[in-house]
Amino acid sequence: MYTIEPVFPTPLYKTQIQISKDYKNNLENYFKKFEYVKHRSGTWGTNPTIHNLIDGEIFSNLKKQFEEHLTTYTKEVFKYDVESYITQSWINLNPPGSYHSLHYHTNSLFSGVYYFDIPDGVPGIAFENVRKHCVEIFPTEWNQYNVHCWNVSVAEGDLILFPSHMYHEVMENTSSETRVSIAFNSFLKGKIGNKDYVNEMEL
Ligand SMILES: [Fe+2]
Repeated sequence: MYTIEPVFPTPLYKTQIQISKDYKNNLENYFKKFEYVKHRSGTWGTNPTIHNLIDGEIFSNLKKQFEEHLTTYTKEVFKYDVESYITQSWINLNPPGSYHSLHYHTNSLFSGVYYFDIPDGVPGIAFENVRKHCVEIFPTEWNQYNVHCWNVSVAEGDLILFPSHMYHEVMENTSSETRVSIAFNSFLKGKIGNKDYVNEMEL
């Protein structure tokens, strides 16, 4: 007889934000106005000089919903009684044959991705477990304690939130269509820490 306690589990937040066909068409046209930069992996991202893409008026309702979910994640899941806000946002275009190599996001507490255009057969997002053993042991069965990589399948309209330090990647798009997502970083506003612990900060 034994018990298992999952120590330091990581909560990945997933929800759905449906948008109308008309609004989606409007956004698609709006996306064409931006300049995109090609990355080595074949993906394209909006030019980083567009600091916070979803500050545009056309995104106001979507941005509000992203921030509401971010607040839920911060306050209800992590129980942090602080205000969070989106610091930067951008569009990712993954044409056929492209991929996002393994990376994490700095200067951000929680990151989010909204899956805007997800044709059948395009990859989701994969999280990498960096707390690996230094030996390779093949288990008889994969479970949450022994996997190296956690694949999350995504559908159009999904919004996911995750701690920004988590390494993630997107496998090669082997479909014949482009995968489009809107990604963002976030940080906190107000007072964090505590004078008694000599780590109080006003952000
Ligand atoms: Fe990322």
